Amino acid sequence: MLTVRTLDALRAVLAGFRAQGARVALVPTMGALHAGHMALIDAARGAGVRVVASIFVNPRQFGPGEDLARYPRREAEDAAMLEAAGCDLLWAPSVEIMYPGGFATGVTVGGGLTNVLDGAARPGHFDGVATVVAKLFAQVRPDVAYFGEKDWQQLAVVRRMAVDLNLGVEVSGVPTVREADGLALSSRNGYLNADERGRAVALPRALEAAARAIGDGGDAAAALGEARRALERAGFVVDYVKLVDAGMLGEPAAGRPRRLLAAARIGGTRLIDNLPVG
Ligand code: PAF
Repeated sequence: MLTVRTLDALRAVLAGFRAQGARVALVPTMGALHAGHMALIDAARGAGVRVVASIFVNPRQFGPGEDLARYPRREAEDAAMLEAAGCDLLWAPSVEIMYPGGFATGVTVGGGLTNVLDGAARPGHFDGVATVVAKLFAQVRPDVAYFGEKDWQQLAVVRRMAVDLNLGVEVSGVPTVREADGLALSSRNGYLNADERGRAVALPRALEAAARAIGDGGDAAAALGEARRALERAGFVVDYVKLVDAGMLGEPAAGRPRRLLAAARIGGTRLIDNLPVG
């Protein structure tokens, strides 16, 4: 696996892939890789496909007081994992290359996709995500890009942006990878101490119970209230537990896919998770 850090080097390697007639798949990441990211690499691999992973801890998607400074950075370990998983190229730009002096452009996705849920709790977060993903798409020009379903709202925002801006990239979602007890894998799980880690399992359990109850025709408001109380009993401070339209993230409408999403803080760590509702 090659690692490149400049746009010229990236373009040269990509031109080589294209000259071989390969399709290019992109797996954007912020590093601190785990089995969830490896599932994205696995999904991307295929005959005639060159897999490019990016590692860039994007300052524009962290709000003031968020964990930008302590976000785990371990590129050497990440590169070894990517190579073992069959990734062909690692794109690892610096902040100066991604956002050179004078950088003045941002991408904002509207349509009610970014001012709800995590967008309400983290103002500007999805502008930062959309801007860096648009840049990664412009730099790599992938045929297809893979994102984890764990960040369901991010996936919806990126899908909308790719369609709206005719970016010519297929955005593919990959199911969440979970620990044996059900906790969704996340680079932020490493912030949890042993006690918090033990209690964190309440998040997937509360979502599973609510998704089952609602899917079985139970009262949604009651199920969401019970999920919230279960999280609070486990020591979480709940940000939201919501049932939304799976695509546009607004009020669920009859006959359309629904998704249950939650965000809650345990100790100093904010966790998110989501499940489909039948
Ligand atoms: O999901 C992430 O790791 C990030 O939000 C992404 C998509 C790499 C953009 O920085």
